[in-house]
Amino acid sequence: MASAPRFAMASPVGHSVSEFSSDVVVGLRHPGQKELPSKYLYDAVGSALFDAICVLPEYGLNRAGQRMLERYSGEITDRVPGPVVVAELGSGSGQQTRWLLEALARRQRVNYYPIDISGSALFRCQQELGQIDLVSIVGFERAYLDGLQEVAARRRSGERLFVLFLGSTIGNFDRPAGDQFLREVRSILRAGDALLLATDIEKPISKLVLAYDDPAGVTAAFNKNLLARINRELGGDFDLAQFEHVVRYDETERRIEMHLRSKAWQRVTIREAGFRFYLREGETIWTESSHKYDSQGVIQMGERAGYQCAGQWHDSEWPLAQNLFFAV
Ligand code: AVJ
Repeated sequence: MASAPRFAMASPVGHSVSEFSSDVVVGLRHPGQKELPSKYLYDAVGSALFDAICVLPEYGLNRAGQRMLERYSGEITDRVPGPVVVAELGSGSGQQTRWLLEALARRQRVNYYPIDISGSALFRCQQELGQIDLVSIVGFERAYLDGLQEVAARRRSGERLFVLFLGSTIGNFDRPAGDQFLREVRSILRAGDALLLATDIEKPISKLVLAYDDPAGVTAAFNKNLLARINRELGGDFDLAQFEHVVRYDETERRIEMHLRSKAWQRVTIREAGFRFYLREGETIWTESSHKYDSQGVIQMGERAGYQCAGQWHDSEWPLAQNLFFAV
């Protein structure tokens, strides 16, 4: 017997090669500190490496998220009453979301809309979550805000939008951009809509550095894959052996930074972009930031952006906060 498909994809309008190319050129031309946008770390190889990072003993963030949603999904969803539609920003592999969807499906049919610029992430999300009873999934291969706008347009009157932004992905934004992003999300929401935001909490620097510079070199491979991706997709000639994965903690900004440091003077050509540039020995390309938060600061960040905090849950083993906000 054929059952109704539980997964569909909205027609893709993912970022194009030319957008990737121009973002790369803008970042590498950046005066002072060269940089590359961290969102491009997640191609199929990068997403698989990120999944491997999540099982490293040194990187407890995702396991903490998992543990917390396993434990607190009931409590969290109890505070978000009525019929809800769920939109997730950056669904990743969907393992944490399972607990929330199952909790919601105990009381209602659930429409779940994962939004991710990575088609392979959406595919894995479908594999992971496609079989839950009473849950139907429509994936959006989009930038977060574009996807959220489309989901908001589909919502029927009387339905509450429940937005998930898990995994402390907000930490990729610097603080002003994080505020701005939450405000933009708020502008798409209606008063009473909910946002569950996970934020990694400050912890001892040595522990943080080890989490992003693991001895097995998985995170180093994840970082260097960005250059390999440029080689693959844009005809670059980065010599990966000439780069070193570097992690540092900026105590003022309270963030981990990942860089790729050039071991020698070198010239790099990116054919498809028609772009050639030089790196000095020791010069770095900044590839990712991961901001850390304190519990009170997150509540204030939400308030500045037009939300009220309705609950905060913590993990004791790996300090991480799940923050439930309502749009006011
Ligand atoms: C997916 C952005 C939350 O910042 O901890 C993990 C990405 N980078 N190891 C993080 C990441 C290197 C991760 N986020």
